[in-house]
Amino acid sequence: MVKTGNVLAVVGGQFGSEGKGVIVARIADWYDVHVRTGGANAGHSFWHDNQKWVSQMIPVGWINPQAKLVLGRGAMLDLAVLDREIAAIRATYGDNFLDGRLLIDMDAFLVEEQHHLLEGGVRGELHQRIGSTGEGIGAARVARLQRDGQYIRRIKEIQVDEMLLKYPNVWAAATIVSDTPGYLSSVRKAGKNILLEGTQGCGLSLIHGFWPYVTSADTNAAQLAVDAGIPPQHVNQVLLVCRTYPIRVAGNSGPLWKELSWETMSERVGREVQEKTTVTKKVRRIGEWDSNLFRRAVTLNAPTALALTFVDYLSPAALGKSDYLDMDRIVTDFVRDIEFLADCPVALLGTGPNAEGAWQTVWRGYNMSGELTW
Ligand code: GTP
Ligand code: MG
Repeated sequence: MVKTGNVLAVVGGQFGSEGKGVIVARIADWYDVHVRTGGANAGHSFWHDNQKWVSQMIPVGWINPQAKLVLGRGAMLDLAVLDREIAAIRATYGDNFLDGRLLIDMDAFLVEEQHHLLEGGVRGELHQRIGSTGEGIGAARVARLQRDGQYIRRIKEIQVDEMLLKYPNVWAAATIVSDTPGYLSSVRKAGKNILLEGTQGCGLSLIHGFWPYVTSADTNAAQLAVDAGIPPQHVNQVLLVCRTYPIRVAGNSGPLWKELSWETMSERVGREVQEKTTVTKKVRRIGEWDSNLFRRAVTLNAPTALALTFVDYLSPAALGKSDYLDMDRIVTDFVRDIEFLADCPVALLGTGPNAEGAWQTVWRGYNMSGELTW
């Protein structure tokens, strides 16, 4: 009998921008099927083949040429964004690079112009009040809850003509299928490994975050299983990705423990640092490591492994390093402390850009189940 595959949920432990994109890119080859749910309000940035990429819709796992990519039933699809992303990938890797690999559940819902207009982007009321991206995902979810087809459509309701005209790359590269949960169940049984790519972070959860400064859905591992249609007991690996200094988006975006200025950060880090959000391009807010927030993320997700990013902020000497043995006590003590709190190993560390500007990750030999493999 074939051993069933692993199902890994990758979750952000704070308020998003933990570097899930960089981390998923690092482990993309270990997983045969990459699933993305959620909406285009999250942007996952990473480097691949000396090029910077940002994925708002397509799973980061597209970089693994063998991997299947699934936009699951719980996804809120922005086809304009997806079309742009597919176009960029095809332009670089050839028109056939995604052929037969990208599956979209026909019951996934669409975020469309009327939803964008309801929220109004970064000029809208929702952005002013709670720092939301205002992209319309919340409005689309409200429409879905109304259970009335005049306010929202599923992808299966788009006519071929409209698809061809407005989203030619989606049309060319994607297959709209009827039963992604059934597909995921069968590949898992066949021994394939599945990665559920989470978006945003635990502190932004509608249910478990700091309401009202939250996103319009839960953001934790259980929700990823729900959105993909995977039974919860099949999720046997959870990777919690945390930054050494949590951030929140710009503006009135809610509580942030011991907030710091970018001047203070630049002094600590020993170089000029300032971060802007991937989607809205505004200067982020940053704060000290918050153990209570971390404990909450551990409670809600029971990680089997951790990824710690922005280690270069914790210890400037770690910048661009690729070997754990080169890390100083500041880093190793910190790693030991959070391993103790979470009762699982830090499998990966992010050390910022290397000399070529690409993001550097350090793998410590643990797999995503937390087992040492060498
Ligand atoms: P969201 O779902 O939108 O929260 O995405 P995310 O967790 O993938 O994070 P995102 O890519 O939006 O933001 C992380 C930013 O930090 C990106 O600009 C990365 O290039 C950068 N980054 C990732 N890891 C590190 C790290 O270890 N050190 C430094 N200095 N930067 C990093
Ligand atoms: Mg982002």
